[in-house]
Amino acid sequence: MDMLGGLTPSEFLRDYWQKKPLVIRQAFPAFECPVSADELAGLACEEGVESRIVIEDDKGKPWQLHNGPFSPEQFSELPEKDWTLLVQGLDHWVPEISDILEHFRFVPNWRLDDIMASYAPVGGSVGPHYDQYDVFLLQAQGHRRWTFGGHCDHTSPRVEGTPLRILSSWDGEETVTLAPGDMLYLPPGIGHHGVAEDDCITLSVGFRAPTVDDVLTGFTDFLCSKSAAAEHINDPDLTVQENPGTIKTDVIDKLDHIIREQLGDRRNLALWFGQYTTAPKSMDIVVPAEAPAAPEDFAEALSSGEQLRWNEGSRFAYHELGDETALFVDGEQYLLRGDATPLAPLLCASSRVEMTALCRLAQDEALLGLLCTLYNQGSIYFE
Ligand code: SIN
Ligand code: CO
Repeated sequence: MDMLGGLTPSEFLRDYWQKKPLVIRQAFPAFECPVSADELAGLACEEGVESRIVIEDDKGKPWQLHNGPFSPEQFSELPEKDWTLLVQGLDHWVPEISDILEHFRFVPNWRLDDIMASYAPVGGSVGPHYDQYDVFLLQAQGHRRWTFGGHCDHTSPRVEGTPLRILSSWDGEETVTLAPGDMLYLPPGIGHHGVAEDDCITLSVGFRAPTVDDVLTGFTDFLCSKSAAAEHINDPDLTVQENPGTIKTDVIDKLDHIIREQLGDRRNLALWFGQYTTAPKSMDIVVPAEAPAAPEDFAEALSSGEQLRWNEGSRFAYHELGDETALFVDGEQYLLRGDATPLAPLLCASSRVEMTALCRLAQDEALLGLLCTLYNQGSIYFE
């Protein structure tokens, strides 16, 4: 399979990632969509599945947004054409969709957002817009005509009277029609507009990155959750000052010292980031086993040669911290030392864990216990 149109992942990252769009014909040759339009509609009726319907002309109002879950009646009342159903996090609900992610592992796990599916009858689209994210738009069923190009930002003119950010007076630069298996990569900020030419399903493999705001608020919240953060600033060295109204320089020095010491703690920064980027999208994603397994039972399943895999929607990452390795799974952190450290790269490398190496590591009682914990909390399961 030649998913990047003849480019190696390194070439793609160097020349296109975050830089410019790329059309890849037959990135997934003979691609067959693992879900049907009816299945998508069914999912959109379920509690816990994030779904939206966008209607281009909703009783005279432009580009109206409706949030799921929907009822079957709502689907029967939709117009004949010019609407789109979006289902978020499809990789979590459909294992065959989750498998598609294995082809995108040249991008780090922490950058992955999810796979969203869109279904549209002829004419359907979500309007011309731009996203803040990198996205691979994989045509899964039917045909979609994409017009794309031009850098957009918050100053780009927008259509009024809609909650969606639809670009007005935007023309795009290039137009292509994608057939099943074709794929379009778009970096953030590039205007695009995809219109269904027939009954059409598109899968958006989306990547995310935190904003500076996310990093500052997330890390400071993490620091504030530590007990030392509740300590008050003290001044046993207080001396009489000429004017009680003065805030003296040494007070600001003290604050400056605290801020630098706290914010400059790289170990805490790494621990926060690992937990933050592996936190599940919603609480429904990681469901604990009904009857927790004892480590002995778990060990038996391991030795019988069963394949362990990540729960769809679970997130795995690790970071090397000198003589320790921090393993992050679904927003939790596990510190590994010495002979235990190889478990982290092994578990994070692929959604289907390499079992020979894993069984060797699981001979260690503590690691067996950790794997059993991950199993019982629902982050890994036997296929
Ligand atoms: C779609 O698949 O209809 C919309 C996806 C996008 O433009 O980001
Ligand atoms: Co988009």
